Amino acid sequence: MNNNQRASKLTLSVHAGSHGDPRFKGTVTPVFPSTAYDYEDGATTLYPRYFNTPNQKAVVEKLAALENAEDGIIFSSGMAAILTAIFAMMKKGDHAIFQNDLYGGTFHAIVNEMPRYGMEYTLVDGSNPENFKKAIRAETKVIYIETPSNPTLKITDIKAVADIARAHGIITIIDNTFASPVNQNPIDLGIDIVTHSGTKYIGGHSDISCGAVLASASLTKQVWESAIHFGGSLDPNTSWLVERSLKTIVLRVRQQNGNALAIAEFLKSDNRIGRVYYPVLSIIRIIQLPKHKCQEALVECYHLK
Ligand SMILES: Cc1ncc(COP(=O)(O)O)c(C=O)c1O
Repeated sequence: MNNNQRASKLTLSVHAGSHGDPRFKGTVTPVFPSTAYDYEDGATTLYPRYFNTPNQKAVVEKLAALENAEDGIIFSSGMAAILTAIFAMMKKGDHAIFQNDLYGGTFHAIVNEMPRYGMEYTLVDGSNPENFKKAIRAETKVIYIETPSNPTLKITDIKAVADIARAHGIITIIDNTFASPVNQNPIDLGIDIVTHSGTKYIGGHSDISCGAVLASASLTKQVWESAIHFGGSLDPNTSWLVERSLKTIVLRVRQQNGNALAIAEFLKSDNRIGRVYYPVLSIIRIIQLPKHKCQEALVECYHLK
């Protein structure tokens, strides 16, 4: 299927990736709790820490469809996904560039962990893509962005950063947690690896911890080769819950977009509030969109500085 023929995200969120119930012909993926499976073809077997059991794969296939990725891996937390992806792309002596406005857990992880493994990093102001270009060294292997950022919703120009990185043969990683796959698909803009803390919109009910990496088949394999060592795999029951949650992600996030805009406008109208951090407000002002167009505005604003 080419891009023009892709099913809508609403359809993909329900139907992509379901592994069905071959025995009883049920419509949903059953929970497959086994940790031991027969060898399939004499060479490989299914095993939770190999990230290839049916419930894990069902989630990955749905998420990959929503992010327009070839493949991916589902992890037990967002940080497991993020650090495994970064470390899989780097080795001792390599250098990475991060935007300085990052989720606190990611910031602390890189400043504490990377130097211990002989990896160097530079933090740059992500509001201007040229800052990434200026920080590139011969040893730079990764450029990492998070947009909208947590918690101040700073916007980084995804395509501009992806273009700069690609021109220098550098892998790009984005934390797409705050946009969710509903509002933004960074792979379509040239990003190599998308990560998520699924603990937020993907889980959606404040009762699931998980993470994800979505990428090409070859980059997924590279991440997988480290992931099986680090071992941050997700169990079948939680994977099943994630698959179930994803069926409503489009409806939930659309509603949340509208609710967030209403709250932001309410706060903006109160002169006791000094500043409201919500990027859609500025885009609506700039292009004078009517309020009912907020969904499109939200999607559009993510692609602007
Ligand atoms: C943007 C972002 N990235 C990554 C993480 C880490 O995710 P987790 O807590 O699932 O490890 C979080 C958690 O709050 C987050 O907000």
